[in-house]
Amino acid sequence: MSSPELVPGLAGIPAAESSVSFIDGQAGVLEYRGYPIEDLSAHSTFEEVAWLLLYGELPTSDELASFEADLGRLRVLPPALVKMVQAFPATGHPMQALQASLAALGMVSPKVDLRDAASKDEAARRVIAVTALPVALFERVRAGKEYVAPRADLSTAANFLWCLDGEEPAEIASKTLDCALILHAEHTMNASTFACRVVASTENDPYTSCSGAVGALFGPLHGGANERVLNQLSTIDGVDAVESWYEAKAESKSKVMGFGHRVYKTKDPRAKNLQVLAVKLFEELGSTPKYDVALKLEEVVTAKLGGRGIYPNVDFFSGLVYEKLGLNTDVFTPIFAMARVAGYCAHWLEQHEDNKLFRPAQIYVGERERSYAPISER
Ligand code: CMC
Repeated sequence: MSSPELVPGLAGIPAAESSVSFIDGQAGVLEYRGYPIEDLSAHSTFEEVAWLLLYGELPTSDELASFEADLGRLRVLPPALVKMVQAFPATGHPMQALQASLAALGMVSPKVDLRDAASKDEAARRVIAVTALPVALFERVRAGKEYVAPRADLSTAANFLWCLDGEEPAEIASKTLDCALILHAEHTMNASTFACRVVASTENDPYTSCSGAVGALFGPLHGGANERVLNQLSTIDGVDAVESWYEAKAESKSKVMGFGHRVYKTKDPRAKNLQVLAVKLFEELGSTPKYDVALKLEEVVTAKLGGRGIYPNVDFFSGLVYEKLGLNTDVFTPIFAMARVAGYCAHWLEQHEDNKLFRPAQIYVGERERSYAPISER
């Protein structure tokens, strides 16, 4: 039998059958359970979308009300975790704090019975309810501030802002963040969702599976790109400096953060939606010179690389939105995570519908059957 050929990065290789989301990378289409993200972000809330992702249908009013009540009930950071986050080194990144906290959440939560639908649902809902809390607390600890307890009566987005500031957020802020959460909630078999499913396939609970996924999301080629985009825009000295900045990047063969995608060969539909969100926010709160730089950068990069299918991705405009909301750059990726846990949990449930352990093959390229030399003879 001939060995299968290696496909680096498993590009184009299906890892699962899934009905959670769909992408047409040529047309720039993204659907959650068959619904275009444009419709969901215009008409739904993050909680409604989380339900849709978990259970495959849009919720009725009663289902949504009971789901929101459940998320509110589960939105608790156990005292052991509060202490743990307060003890984390301030030199850490909030994504590291989040990854550790999700793993620790499993230590203080009821054991998950993978054969019991109610037990699985409760655990998935707890992950979605809790994820924002250690991020907000870590931010406060680093700023020398006291813990603000979460509120069951707020949405996921509004509660995060409340836990960060200890103040009722403005409606524009919570609505904008809610919309951003919808746009980040799910995205087929990306690296972190794949990581989630791999961990889930060893019969793990969603705490461990999502903790692993958050580790994968943290990297600059994945969710970690959003904070780097903003840093990139900050280093470019105005619109007139964009072309020379890009030429220097190209010369050094460095990637431009916020551009390119394994699946999309056109502008990422989430980037289009986040751009609209940013513009709406700028109309209300005033624009930023970084947006002008971003527009020029998009023009220059797509002129140079568009022919190779390299266009703005989800991370290109999100940071401009978060910065306008007054958020620190290093909570941008955790915001991605607090949305994406809805998608992870949908995949975690789907993986357990018909689980098969992930155990791919390798192509061995090392030596074999070597003669062992005792240490004294080496
Ligand atoms: N800037 C410049 N060149 C690029 C870029 C970019 N942003 N993206 C891809 N290329 C070039 C790359 O240098 C390579 O060129 P060559 O064939 O000459 O060596 C070619 O395009 C293929 O790139 P690749 O990295 O092998 O392709 P991929 O399918 O693995 O790329 C990607 C996907 C997202 C890793 C890549 O586009 C990238 O690194 N982008 C920058 C980081 C970024 O914005 N990441 C966020 C991704 S979207 C959100 C998410 O998934 O979380």
